[in-house]
Amino acid sequence: MKNSFGNAINITLFGESHGAGVGVLIDGIAPGIKIDEDFIAHQLTLRRPSGKISTARREPDEYVIQSGVYNGYTTGAPLCIFIPNTDTRSRDYTPGLPRPSHADLTAHEKYHGFEDYRGGGHFSGRLTAALVAAGAIVIPALREKGIYIGTCINRIDRIGLSDIPTDREGLLAVAESDYGLTDDYAIAMMKDTIELAASEGDSVGGVLETAIIGLPAGLGEPWFDGVESQIASAVFGIPAVKSVAFGAKDIETMRGSRANDAFIVKDGKIATATNNSGGIQGGITNGMPVIFRTAIKPTPSISQNQLTVNMQTLEETVLGVKGRHDPCIVPRARIVIDSVAALVVADMLTVRYGSDALTTK
Ligand SMILES: Cc1cc2nc3c(=O)[nH]c(=O)nc-3n(C[C@H](O)[C@H](O)[C@H](O)COP(=O)(O)O)c2cc1C
Repeated sequence: MKNSFGNAINITLFGESHGAGVGVLIDGIAPGIKIDEDFIAHQLTLRRPSGKISTARREPDEYVIQSGVYNGYTTGAPLCIFIPNTDTRSRDYTPGLPRPSHADLTAHEKYHGFEDYRGGGHFSGRLTAALVAAGAIVIPALREKGIYIGTCINRIDRIGLSDIPTDREGLLAVAESDYGLTDDYAIAMMKDTIELAASEGDSVGGVLETAIIGLPAGLGEPWFDGVESQIASAVFGIPAVKSVAFGAKDIETMRGSRANDAFIVKDGKIATATNNSGGIQGGITNGMPVIFRTAIKPTPSISQNQLTVNMQTLEETVLGVKGRHDPCIVPRARIVIDSVAALVVADMLTVRYGSDALTTK
């Protein structure tokens, strides 16, 4: 059973959608990181559903830090955060009838019916609240070191919305915005597209674009623990992620003469004139912004009737999913991606510079 990631800082997720709550254990975190309780609450707000574009389930996300913090700073001991569930409605879920493209069937195959199927159980997007809380522990420490992360909504369904800026102010504005969009017109287009799908009992997906700026050159390991591998591995853990791609969108269609990032000197350092590589070569950061895009599939739970099979009787039947669901996961997932990226960066810094790399005191 693998619910963890990280080399020097280990992140372990636990909990279920309709159990007592969800949580995260952060082991290997530096001592002396200042805990900003308001920031943790703020980040959780950015993941929380709002309006008609998301689920009607409303969780206050009143998190509890159960260990690893004393007098407002991390102690260096395992840090455990627990977020109780308060707004569950388990009657909406039918045991035995797997929702198409959700994890109900695969969980049943793996756990032989012992799995908690209510609300998707351990596979629910609800667990991403804990990832956001964990990310909020390290994001202020990274910012203090000049490292900023932001994710924008690049596309909803077929509608192009925004590209990620790579300057500090632009990236911070995206990171602090409600949906990862700073343009009112783009927000209106995003909402219209999602609401239209929802009104038809359907769902839509999209693409998120992320930038990480301020990373030193030389982070990451060659071959299988490169920056791409580490980020992609953690981001693929987020439910509904179907692809992660680094660098220029259409790099495979470019000739080398256009794709290559020529070296230049900027502010007394070696930089590149373009950033088609997305800040990574040989799996190692080159000091340019790390850029990646994450494709999110349409929400599997839709109220339209779809074919499924009764797992007990093997009879084909029709299922229209009841209950409260996000008609689009993209606007809520963007802060989860920021958080996971921050945790991976914190881990890579700790591997390279040691366990005090993030100490802020
Ligand atoms: C923030 C977030 C919210 C989600 N909300 C829902 C939801 O309301 N309904 C649903 O069916 N799936 C939702 N999902 C996606 C499912 O959890 C996911 O599709 C399912 O676990 C199967 O995993 P897979 O899509 O990665 O294969 C959500 C995912 C995230 C990240």
